[in-house]
Amino acid sequence: MTDLLFREYEKLVEIRVLGRKFSVPEKNTCLRAFQYISPQTIPYGRFCWNQECQLCRVGYQMANEANGAPRSVLACKVLVAQGMEIVELSDELNWSLREILKPSSPRPPLD
Ligand code: FES
Repeated sequence: MTDLLFREYEKLVEIRVLGRKFSVPEKNTCLRAFQYISPQTIPYGRFCWNQECQLCRVGYQMANEANGAPRSVLACKVLVAQGMEIVELSDELNWSLREILKPSSPRPPLD
């Protein structure tokens, strides 16, 4: 699939962001994947998109790895991969993704 914003991809891969599951385009950076799941907020974040500002730092682990310290990387540099679990977000990313990551409201009780 081709899109002006995203590198060419053929399928979506599943990742988790702070425990929430999302399907995002393969062969794209994490920051592009965040834009895919939150197109109305990520473009307005204060991101340089070229590995200079450090505002996109994330910590991640792979689902099939033994527990250990998360790897700290720049979301504008690292590519998404099936099973990636992003467990830490920079303040700027937390702010930009706050709507999609907020806990869902409890269902109102039936009368
Ligand atoms: S967006 Fe600036 S370092 Fe990644």
